Amino acid sequence: MNALRFTSSGKSVALATIPVPEITHPREVLVKVAFSGVCGTDLHIIGGEFPCSPHVTLGHEFSGTVVAFGPQVTTLAPGDLVVVDPNSGCHKCHFCCSGKPHFCPTGGFYSNLGVKNDGGWADYCLCSVEQVHKLSKIALKTAALVEPVSCVAHGWDLVSPLCVGGEVIVVGAGIIGILWTCLLHLQGHRNITLVEKNPARRQLLNKLREELGFKLVGALEMDEKFDLIVDCTGHGPAIESGVKLLNFGGKMCIFGVAPPSQKIEISPFDIYLKELTIMSVKVNPFSFPKAIALVEALSERYLDYDKLGVKLFKLEEYQKAIDCLKNGEITKAVFQI
Ligand SMILES: NC(=O)c1ccc[n+]([C@@H]2O[C@H](COP(=O)([O-])OP(=O)(O)OC[C@H]3O[C@@H](n4cnc5c(N)ncnc54)[C@H](O)[C@@H]3O)[C@@H](O)[C@H]2O)c1
Ligand SMILES: [Zn+2]
Ligand SMILES: [Zn+2]
Repeated sequence: MNALRFTSSGKSVALATIPVPEITHPREVLVKVAFSGVCGTDLHIIGGEFPCSPHVTLGHEFSGTVVAFGPQVTTLAPGDLVVVDPNSGCHKCHFCCSGKPHFCPTGGFYSNLGVKNDGGWADYCLCSVEQVHKLSKIALKTAALVEPVSCVAHGWDLVSPLCVGGEVIVVGAGIIGILWTCLLHLQGHRNITLVEKNPARRQLLNKLREELGFKLVGALEMDEKFDLIVDCTGHGPAIESGVKLLNFGGKMCIFGVAPPSQKIEISPFDIYLKELTIMSVKVNPFSFPKAIALVEALSERYLDYDKLGVKLFKLEEYQKAIDCLKNGEITKAVFQI
């Protein structure tokens, strides 16, 4: 089968022909991949800024069809349409047993599909039955967005409660910032400003902006104050400027992944004076069922690929997909396998 794999030496990816993986464990499921997304984190991996196993098949946001499974799998049938949660835990350590599998030092974040183990930029992907979620109401194409929505859904739980009517700013209009904007709008928020420095990206979002009525600007306005700021850039200086714009009682949600070497300066006095909350979001513990429900609720009104600036590519067109994503011509690339 075809697989798009990370080549750690060259900080790049290359198409390889490898055998279809075989089921060796009784709880394994073989999924024929249908749609498989490329995200900002993949660009960090390819750029060598995010740890990743050498020669691994990338792709952690995918939907597909069940083709085979081990003898202990009783909840699936061949032909079931599914999405796969790329993350798992060991189910035994302190963190897993405290409901925080995303902190698991062995079986969670460090063993996830498409980063540590072979993922979904391939014809087939092998996963554990615990990671497979059946779809009943969403098309496989839209379902490629379930994984990013699951991370946003976890973020939503962390920033809640959030009063409707508050001033919200989302920084960075890649797919993640746009999904945050859509979710905030779905939940009744109307005072949303989306900040995006790349004019090509802003141009892509005109239709969605007109329909939903959020503000779309090129830079932060330093004289306004916000109740919630969601950083979706992973850019230290943007986060540092954002904290200065928080209102009394404000919350800063660091969703973007900054390179490990970046440092920012924050005033502890301001944190005291304004009772600020600064939080981060790390992936998607127990969020897949919520994300499937959210994708159903958001529906085509929000998640139409054209309105979002998402474009389909063949796996062989990976260089074009990566280039379009990097230069902001699109907000997301999805491989149609
Ligand atoms: N926390 C999590 O669990 C989680 C999950 C998925 C993705 N992420 C991270 O979220 C971030 C966003 O993902 P994405 O796929 O949308 O990435 P992306 O790179 O496509 O989008 C980031 C956008 O931010 C814009 N930007 C950068 N600096 C800016 C600034 N100073 N002001 C305004 N805009 C600015 C860029 O032009 C770009 O359009 C990435 O860092 C990704 O790694 C985190
Ligand atoms: Zn991702
Ligand atoms: Zn664990």
